[in-house]
Formats: sequence, C-alpha cells, structure tokens
Amino acid sequence: MLPDDLLALAKDIAVEAGELLLAKRPARPEVIDTKSSPTDVVTALDRETEDLIRARIKAVRPGDAILGEEGGDVPGQGRVRWVVDPIDGTVNFLYGLPAWAISIGVEVDGEIVAGVVNAVPMGELYTAVKGGGAWLAGERLHCNTGVPLDRALIATGFGYAASRRVVQAEVLAQVLPRVRDIRRGGSCAVDLCSVASGRVDGYYERGTQYWDHAAGGLVAAEAGARIGGLHGKPYNPELTICAAPGLFEELHDLLAALDPERDAPTGA
Ligand code: IPD
Ligand code: CA
Ligand code: CA
Ligand code: CA
Repeated sequence: MLPDDLLALAKDIAVEAGELLLAKRPARPEVIDTKSSPTDVVTALDRETEDLIRARIKAVRPGDAILGEEGGDVPGQGRVRWVVDPIDGTVNFLYGLPAWAISIGVEVDGEIVAGVVNAVPMGELYTAVKGGGAWLAGERLHCNTGVPLDRALIATGFGYAASRRVVQAEVLAQVLPRVRDIRRGGSCAVDLCSVASGRVDGYYERGTQYWDHAAGGLVAAEAGARIGGLHGKPYNPELTICAAPGLFEELHDLLAALDPERDAPTGA
C-alpha cells in the first residue's frame, strides 16, 4: 500500500481511461442527463469512463473504497479510498475545448497521498505523491512565487446553480480590477495543475466537489502552493483558494472581505 504503488496503478488506469476517451469521443458528444441544473450536464462517456476506472481498481484492489462523481461512494474494507472524476471539465469535453482531464486521487486513512490528472487533449499527465513532489513529463513542478496580487493571473470557476453564480459574478467584479487578469479554464483539476506548473499564479472557486480537487490539490501542494479555505477552514466543501504563500494570503484577505460564501444558506 505504498503511495508510489498506488500512484503507479492510478497512472496506468488514467492512461487507459484517456485512451478510451480519445478513441470514443464523438465529434459532438450527446448530453444524456443533467444534475443540479440544466447546465450541469452528463455525457455517456462520463459514465462509461468511470465504470472502466472502477473495474480496473476493483480488479487489482477489490477491498478498496471508491468515491466517484458518477457512481457515488462505494465503501471498502481497508484504509484506501479512490477519489475519481472521470471527466473534469465535461462542458469543455462537450464542445471540443482542450481543458478537460481524468482526475484520480488516492487516500490512505482519509488523506490524499497520490494523485494523477491526465489532461488528455493537452497531452499532459500530472502526478504527485505526498512528500515526493509534483511532476509533469519527468520535470519537477514549482508554482510561481513572489507574485503580488495586482500582478497575478488568477484562474477561477463557477458552480452550476444560478443562485451561486449571481454571488460569484459579484465577487468576480471586485476581484477583476485588482489582479492582472482572470482565466476561466473550465476544469478545476487542470486549473490546480496550472497553479503547479506556473501557467497561472493562483486559483479560487466556491463549491467544488472533493473529486474535482482531490488529485489536483495534491499536485499544487507538492509544487509548493498553499491550498485552503477562508479563515483556516479546510478547502472542502468550502471555498478553495490555491496559490504560493504570500499571494495565497493576499487573495484570501480580498475574498474574505467580499464574503464569497454569503450564498451558503440558499445556494446549491
Ligand atoms: C466542473 C469543473 C469546473 C468547475 C465546476 C466543476 P465537471 O466539474 O471542474 O471547472 O468550475 O465547479 O463542477 O462537472 O466538469 O466534472
Ligand atoms: Ca469535476
Ligand atoms: Ca466530472
Ligand atoms: Ca459533472
């Protein structure tokens, strides 16, 4: 049950799932279902890919628990739980935009110790093991450091519920004039890996799910980023903020003043 062994298996499975998606993605995938709102879409390949990932995990490690976006939480008998998002960035997948990824995080005793983000159309496979650094194509990743907020490129995302989007737009209107610029890439996992690789300086988003950031959060943290919520709260299920120390605090203080969680009592 060494983290390196779990990572090796996660990587093999994420590569196979990526091959499935590349081979089977139709020119225009069909929406077969919606979730929290009509904009929260599911394609057949979201489900087929998660089924494949679950089958591969079970074949090698039948006692492990698995939490996946499409198939829910299946308890296991041991200390290991897999946290799976078969396609993070389904809307990008639907439209043929490149920022989507297979995200697989592996917990031991409730803590993520290994993570893989396979950003298939970008040809990039990000990996991290707790304490072992974050890696892309044999290169160790280091997030950008020493960037002040007013020169920071900040990635963000929006939940699907309209009530939440109203607050997110109000917060964004106050953040935008105070940073270099904003990017809305469309995949939380890719956004976190972009913090790790230095393609953006920081990231924040309210209301992501554990499977969105389980693997990417470890990649970012192992690249030197700080990841957390408001006022020291854990980032799941609250606001997720991720950036190098220094920028993290600046972004945190700005967001805390804007109270991005004020939709909590009614938001979905
Ligand atoms: C979504 C993406 C998106 C984020 C949403 C997530 P999905 O995941 O990560 O970037 O803004 O909050 O729900 O539904 O494409 O797996
Ligand atoms: Ca997701
Ligand atoms: Ca997904
Ligand atoms: Ca989804």
